[in-house]
Amino acid sequence: MDTQPRTSQHDADAEPQRRADQSSQPGASLDVLILAAGLGTRMRSATAKVLHKLGGRPLIAHVCRTARALVKEGRPVYVVVGHQAEEVKAAVVEELGEGGAVFVAQTEQRGTGDAVMAAREALENSNSTLLVLSGDVPLVRAETLGALYHQHRSHRGHGAAATLLAVRLEDPTGYGRIVRDAEGLFERIVEQKDATPEERAINEINAGIYCFETRKLFPALARVQPANAQGEYYLTDVPGILRADGEDVSVFVQSDAREVSGINTRVELAEFERALRNRTLRRLMLDSGVTVIDPAHTYVSPEAQVGRDTVIHPGVVIEGRTVVGEACEICAGVRLSNSRVGSGVVIKDHSVVVDSEIGDHCSVGPFAHLRMNALMEEGSVVGNFVEVKKSRLGRRAKSMHLTYLGDATVGDRTNVGAGTVTCNYDGKQKHPTVIEEDVKIGSDTMLVAPVRVGARSVTAAGAVVTEDVPPDTLVAGVPAKVKKKLSQEQPESPEEKETAAAATPATREA
Ligand code: UD1
Ligand code: CA
Repeated sequence: MDTQPRTSQHDADAEPQRRADQSSQPGASLDVLILAAGLGTRMRSATAKVLHKLGGRPLIAHVCRTARALVKEGRPVYVVVGHQAEEVKAAVVEELGEGGAVFVAQTEQRGTGDAVMAAREALENSNSTLLVLSGDVPLVRAETLGALYHQHRSHRGHGAAATLLAVRLEDPTGYGRIVRDAEGLFERIVEQKDATPEERAINEINAGIYCFETRKLFPALARVQPANAQGEYYLTDVPGILRADGEDVSVFVQSDAREVSGINTRVELAEFERALRNRTLRRLMLDSGVTVIDPAHTYVSPEAQVGRDTVIHPGVVIEGRTVVGEACEICAGVRLSNSRVGSGVVIKDHSVVVDSEIGDHCSVGPFAHLRMNALMEEGSVVGNFVEVKKSRLGRRAKSMHLTYLGDATVGDRTNVGAGTVTCNYDGKQKHPTVIEEDVKIGSDTMLVAPVRVGARSVTAAGAVVTEDVPPDTLVAGVPAKVKKKLSQEQPESPEEKETAAAATPATREA
């Protein structure tokens, strides 16, 4: 905790005499407190509101990221937790790292004022300005909060005791209204449920985001009473109390209503989701050069990256930190989650790729499923109704139809015939299958793992391979037996093979 009064660099150098009197100066540093203890009754959910996801991340994670951009390196963000405290803490730690946050517990949720009071011990002796954020206002930008803080510090040349973020809304229903006096100066905030019909007509609302001088906040907060319609301790009473004491309370009016709106219902959550999605898709189209055929039916995580000239068809879902390279075609109904896709890749309709990696110039699908660190090396192909789990396909390897590859390694240029299954599970354990390079696995081969098929070998259709197959060997039958040793052809260079294959396209299909 930074309790030493400090002046800004400019003051310290040029006007050392002013160091003596700090009492009317704004706090020397900024602390951020996020309120995240409430359940969010209006969500009608068993899950605390701040854990509901927007753009694939909990609401609280959005607020934490913004907070971190504002506090000095090495200073923690303070978070008030209550409902589902452990889960909320985990979401915060996920965003800020261990030690990035200090948690204070609000055991009973008796209102936003009570929530801030929970942080009294941690903060009351700090000579800081306290920026209070709501865990349910996820889209507010660090720039906006920086401007709020600036106004707070520079108000009338000496700084305000409190500055609140306000916005004018066409429909202010549900929000606290800002009541101004005859001169247009801030007087107090009145909550919707306590407001008179005249006050309800006010459309300037409190966004629930404030700067307070920490030393003035806690004494005023101690005077808040739950004498209101909800029987709660309202943080919103504090600016009025300070004002009545003759302190300066300033109002920072923000013009973008969406940015400072809170999420209270699932309808609002869906509206935010759409707004965030539009923002992401516009960025991809305008800045990244991505074609999005139907933005109304395309879902891309704000954390994802997509390269130039990639085309995204309708119904595509790209989740998490997925990275897609340039000039790819992502066809209808594809889902990519936390995966890496190289350049020049085609992913055909209704394929699902989770936690996996696809190299350059690969082809996937339609109806393929890659998961758990599936890795496709450059130019490999996975086709119709093929599932690949925790397996690696070498360069230009192919598995075109109706196949399960689990815990398998498939060598370069190997072709896996239709209906092949790696029988990787014996009921207790998973076992690996290794298929070396240039192998031809015949249709409907069962590879009973652990098993290895040597380079250039061939399995006949319907073979059940229970033992390792040496290189250059044809096996067939149930269980598979060696039928013959294959002659060692002169190995062609890869270039020659490509030319030959291109000349006779009919032979290319497996
Ligand atoms: C609050 C403001 C209202 C403002 C609105 C802006 C009060 C009394 N009202 O209303 O003036 O217009 O935000 O979005 O502050 N929380 C706790 N502990 C509690 C209660 C709430 O941590 O005991 C947390 C919630 O988890 C939430 C935040 O405080 O993140 C705001 O609480 P919420 O109940 O949503 O307040 P509003 O009714 O929206
Ligand atoms: Ca709210």
